[in-house]
Amino acid sequence: MKEIKIESTLQVFESLDELPPEVYSLMQNAIKARKGAYSPYSKFSVGAAILLDNNKIITGNNQENASFPSGLCAERTAIYYAGSQFPDSKIRIIAICAGSLKVPTTTPIPPCGACRQAIAEYEIKQKSPVEIYFKGELGHIAKSNSLENLLPFMFDKSVL
Ligand code: THU
Repeated sequence: MKEIKIESTLQVFESLDELPPEVYSLMQNAIKARKGAYSPYSKFSVGAAILLDNNKIITGNNQENASFPSGLCAERTAIYYAGSQFPDSKIRIIAICAGSLKVPTTTPIPPCGACRQAIAEYEIKQKSPVEIYFKGELGHIAKSNSLENLLPFMFDKSVL
C-alpha cells in the first residue's frame, strides 16, 4: 500500500481592489449577471463571467425550474454559450459571484461539482488552464490557477 497526497493551492484577495484590472472588470460583469438570475426556489443567485482569448466576455446566471433538476447553474449557462458560439476560442478566466437572497454571503462560493466537471472538459480541450476567481456577495475573493486544482482525480476522456 502506498499513500497518495494531493494538495490544492488557492490565492486569496482581500477585496475587489486587489484584483488585477482585467479580473476586476470581469468580476463586475459577474456581479451584474447575478442580478439577472432566476432563482425563485433556492433564493440563491449566481453570476458568472468568462473572458475568452478573443477578449470577448460571456456571462450567465442560474436559471431554475419548477422541476428542480431542469434548472442550470450560472457557470454552465455561460460556458456552454461560450462553447457553442466561440468553439475555437480559449477560456482564459472565469469570475463567479454568488450568494443567498435571504442572508448576506460572506465567504467565496466555489463552482459545484457538476460545473467543475464542465469547466474541466474545456480546460482539457483547449490544453491551457482556466483561472477561476470566486466570491460571495461580500468579503474576500478566492482564486484557483486552474480547474484541475479544484477537481483532483477528475474523470476525463483518457479512459473512454
Ligand atoms: N448554483 C450555481 O449557479 N452554481 C454553482 O456552482 C452552485 C449552485 C445555483 C444552482 C441553484 O439555482 C442555486 O445555485 C442553489 O443551488
